[in-house]
Amino acid sequence: MMGVRVHRRDGERVRRLLAELGLLDTGRKIRREGEFLIFPVKGPIEGFEIVETEFEPAERRAHSYREVVEVPEELKPLLPSSFDVIGDIAIIELPEGLMEYGKAIGEAILKVHRHIRAVFAKGGKVSGEYRVRELVHLAGEERTETLHRENGIRLRLDVSRVYFSPRLATERMRIFRKSRPGEVVFDMFAGVGPYSILLAKKAELVFACDINPWAVRYLEENVRLNRTNNVVPILGDVRKVAGRVEADRVVMNLPKFADRFLREAMLSVRNGGIVHYYGFGPEEDLFSEHEGKIKAVAGELGFGVEILERRKVRPYAPRQFNIAVDFRVLK
Ligand SMILES: C[S@@+](CC[C@H](N)C(=O)[O-])C[C@H]1O[C@@H](n2cnc3c(N)ncnc32)[C@H](O)[C@@H]1O
Repeated sequence: MMGVRVHRRDGERVRRLLAELGLLDTGRKIRREGEFLIFPVKGPIEGFEIVETEFEPAERRAHSYREVVEVPEELKPLLPSSFDVIGDIAIIELPEGLMEYGKAIGEAILKVHRHIRAVFAKGGKVSGEYRVRELVHLAGEERTETLHRENGIRLRLDVSRVYFSPRLATERMRIFRKSRPGEVVFDMFAGVGPYSILLAKKAELVFACDINPWAVRYLEENVRLNRTNNVVPILGDVRKVAGRVEADRVVMNLPKFADRFLREAMLSVRNGGIVHYYGFGPEEDLFSEHEGKIKAVAGELGFGVEILERRKVRPYAPRQFNIAVDFRVLK
């Protein structure tokens, strides 16, 4: 087989050149011979020493667990193409028919994604006041606590005890970009602090409330972990806190029930302040119902509202989206 022989010191430059020209045979391993490297090539190239030699086949690394998983062929089309990764824990949503192959699926994920140490399947929907879901252990360590990195902050959390979605990282960054230095922020449903700790980088003060004691325990730990000194964790029902703070910006990340807390949000924001409201909406009419509720509550309180932005955040269920509405409150 044909190879290009170069001195080791030129290796990286030549490898790049061959790759750019489409001449490098990536199915074969590069050979080492003392001070020299021999690159497997698909054809001759002028200006280099060409040699005839043998190359071992390159081991191709699988990119997806679906390439290595052992499940009956007819079930392969059901394998999800993606899963959530929180720290070193993978959480996958398996259709009913694949649950019995959970162990094989979990092991395939561990094999292909070396940084993952534990794999769980979603055992149901996010439910209850704390918005947590049941998890079924599939493979790897039986551990549910992890350290997740997002948007330059570190978050310790237990995936079985608190709500956390890595899919909201972009949305959190969007809010961070909109926030202004020196603001007072009220994170009404703070969880382990992904909004609060990020926003605290610009804000003067962040009030971060959650009713789940585990969430607030991790929130406090994350405040320390990120050396944040302007987040005030509050354990309890946000109804008891609302109206006692006067914020420039209020975050309402409780899409399932946020509409029930609009009064609290509006009472907690100063004149001209902004509320980031989240909800779920059907594809055919994402925002009307939510905007109707926003305007109705403002009307009852004698306030005005100005809708600033409406967005689809992410798909939530078939034909349903997690949506966001940003609005200004005029008192
Ligand atoms: C969807 S999670 C969002 C958590 C966090 N903002 C995040 O992005 O990961 C909603 C959170 O609201 C909390 N929660 C629900 N009802 C509440 C209430 N009445 N008062 C305070 N927190 C509440 C839940 O415990 C949960 O942690």
